[in-house]
Amino acid sequence: MSNSTTSIVSSAITSATSIASSAFKTATPAFGGNESFMDMISEKFLVIQEIYVDLFQEINFEDRALQISIFFVAFNPIFWNIVARLEYSTHFLTKLAGSAKRGCYLLAMTIFSLGLVRDYFFEQALHNQFSSPYLQNEYVKMVGVTLFGFGQLLVLTSMYQLGITGTYLGDYFGILMDERVTAFPFNVSNNPMYQGSTLSFLGTALIYGKSAGLLVAFMVQTMYNLALKLEEPFTAQIYAKRDEAKSKKSN
Ligand SMILES: *[C@@H]1O[C@H](CO)[C@@H](O)[C@H](O)[C@H]1NC(C)=O
Ligand SMILES: *[C@@H]1O[C@H](CO)[C@@H](O)[C@H](O)[C@H]1NC(C)=O
Ligand SMILES: *[C@@H]1O[C@H](CO)[C@@H](O)[C@H](O)[C@H]1NC(C)=O
Repeated sequence: MSNSTTSIVSSAITSATSIASSAFKTATPAFGGNESFMDMISEKFLVIQEIYVDLFQEINFEDRALQISIFFVAFNPIFWNIVARLEYSTHFLTKLAGSAKRGCYLLAMTIFSLGLVRDYFFEQALHNQFSSPYLQNEYVKMVGVTLFGFGQLLVLTSMYQLGITGTYLGDYFGILMDERVTAFPFNVSNNPMYQGSTLSFLGTALIYGKSAGLLVAFMVQTMYNLALKLEEPFTAQIYAKRDEAKSKKSN
């Protein structure tokens, strides 16, 4: 992103928070009419605005590693959704690998490798980027370590619960789970794999103290939300079909 884009985004943040700040002032009566309290609130808004703009301006968008890691953050979920749907309608991976299970392992390996490439460039970017004065302190680091640890716990335990085919889109290959997993981590999160991954990105960004990392973590979250919009209804449909077929058989 060029300097001009950075300044456009910065001024967008500035105007959004200024509008919010003055809206709060105007709405003082709606909040109990305490002028000094509302002044304090809108002052806080302006401070937040300054921090957002500063954090954003610290990001070096010219950094090749940052650009590549952002590319893979967007590319990977798009890739696996397209490939999995193609598999579902054409079985091309099943044919290529010789069986549904081997086809799914092939896709799993591909997705896993793409994840490693993304993570590699993310780490590179964090090394290249400026350290944020807002984020360079022990508390932020401790929060980062905690989030990273919890994120990894979610990812690893959900992989343990689902197995390789359950984790890597096995349902598109016709490899279905017998029943819904409800054990930890699925009792604390609906999508522990995605939430764990997002938390790991966020934690890493905080450990390194780089605002560019926060931006990437935000993008990871956005992409996973989008991916879920595609995957959840499709998976539900696949299982509904299976249950329908089952009940026909037992009748
Ligand atoms: C961006 O702007 C700053 C100051 O306005 C300047 O020092 C810097 O060299 C510019 N960077 C690029 C890539 O143009
Ligand atoms: C108004 O807000 C200030 C600051 O929060 C507080 O100290 C004060 O007690 C409040 N006054 C009333 C009347 O609620
Ligand atoms: C989820 O399961 C774990 C392990 O069985 C348990 O320790 C935890 O309390 C459960 N959490 C919730 C919110 O039910």
